[in-house]
Amino acid sequence: MNQTLRQWHVDSWKNKVALQQPKYENIEVLEECLKQLKTRPPLVHSGEVLELRKQIAEAGKGRRFLLQGGDCAERFVDCNPQAIKDKLKIILQMSLILVYGLRRPVVRIGRIAGQYAKPRSDDVETIGGVTLPSFRGDIINGFAFNAEARRPDPRRLLQAQEMSCFTLNYLRALIQGGFADVRHPEMWKLDHLTETDQPKLYTEISERVRESTQFMELLGGGSSEFMSKVDFFTSHEALLLDYESALTQPCSDTQKMFNTGAHMLWIGERTRQLDGAHAEYLRGIENPIGIKVGPTSDPTEICALVAFLNPENVPGKITLISRIGHGKVKGALPQLVKAVCAQKLSVTWSCDPMHGNAIKTQNGIKTRDFNSILGEIQETQAVHKELSTILGGVHFELTGDNVTECLGGGMGLQEEHLSTNYQSYCDPRLNYTQSLEIAYLLSKLLG
Ligand code: PEP
Ligand code: CO
Repeated sequence: MNQTLRQWHVDSWKNKVALQQPKYENIEVLEECLKQLKTRPPLVHSGEVLELRKQIAEAGKGRRFLLQGGDCAERFVDCNPQAIKDKLKIILQMSLILVYGLRRPVVRIGRIAGQYAKPRSDDVETIGGVTLPSFRGDIINGFAFNAEARRPDPRRLLQAQEMSCFTLNYLRALIQGGFADVRHPEMWKLDHLTETDQPKLYTEISERVRESTQFMELLGGGSSEFMSKVDFFTSHEALLLDYESALTQPCSDTQKMFNTGAHMLWIGERTRQLDGAHAEYLRGIENPIGIKVGPTSDPTEICALVAFLNPENVPGKITLISRIGHGKVKGALPQLVKAVCAQKLSVTWSCDPMHGNAIKTQNGIKTRDFNSILGEIQETQAVHKELSTILGGVHFELTGDNVTECLGGGMGLQEEHLSTNYQSYCDPRLNYTQSLEIAYLLSKLLG
């Protein structure tokens, strides 16, 4: 073990520069909340975390496929049974379509049960001459534009952990109770996708769901145990380091450290500096880690970060999630892939076609276009194919609701429709129909 590794401890990140952290006014309340967090039972078990790491390693070799998705930011108000069920359902239906198309098991990872903190481009927001701290996610402050709501409140840390716990508990109950069984009637039902509005899309997708279900039944050989046993993992951005380190505990058998708040964590494009606090925190835990890589990332720096976070080159530990933007992939991705290969770094490649494709409409609404999202995955797949590497997964911002946040798709959502049901506090998500459609198109593209 080298010198830097020996020096890690759960708070060693405090000696480094931590970007994107709130400034709490009442440090005593913060300390009290962190103390409480540390005494609470874990959300996940180290055995599950290691199982996911193994499955991610297999995805890196093309034997599985990662489907990671969920809200840009979860909201406390959405911690209710219907919203949770809808999120699970869309991911399950997408995975069903992908399993059939790719003939590979799909590893389902939600951006869920803890995705409450958001990195922001600006520390403050100005509306009508009034300037207040930016909204940083429900774990930190409130969305309402007033000074009271925008003040970072440490008690929200406890609330976020509780909401994560309620969410994960319900997800586990739904899966254990048979909701995820492909023969469960709700799994067949296509919400918001109607035969009358979108006849071609409806026929193609329902046909694919039917075939996928039959395929799964065939695989299961009639055993309901096989079909109801679905793995579902949780993930969120490891952004708020006070929270993440408070949930970090040694495994009782091995004494190795695990973040017990999620199975997988990722490090964002804005906080992944090699000498920064986020990298320092993440290098000490066993959980699989995603690294977001944008269009301007330097291959040498990314390779150094991968080696820093995974010095023993453990397969499945690192997922490189490229989020480069449609039209820019050919210019940026090949050099990165080549550098990683040249250094023989073990990584699983995934593609986030959302964060490089943000646009603003003339009315200032943040959106993304379905064709750019699909286009980035096509370009990414082409690069991996050419370099004989494997695109092992995808990462989406999506929801099981009928929202109107992204443009296009078979339903032909136009700019003028965006205000009908725009709910996201942060980035625009694919809605239910757009998500099913992209799964269908991917199952053809990658199959
Ligand atoms: C995100 O995943 O919500 C995010 C902010 O991504 P990135 O760090 O890639 O911009
Ligand atoms: Co986002």
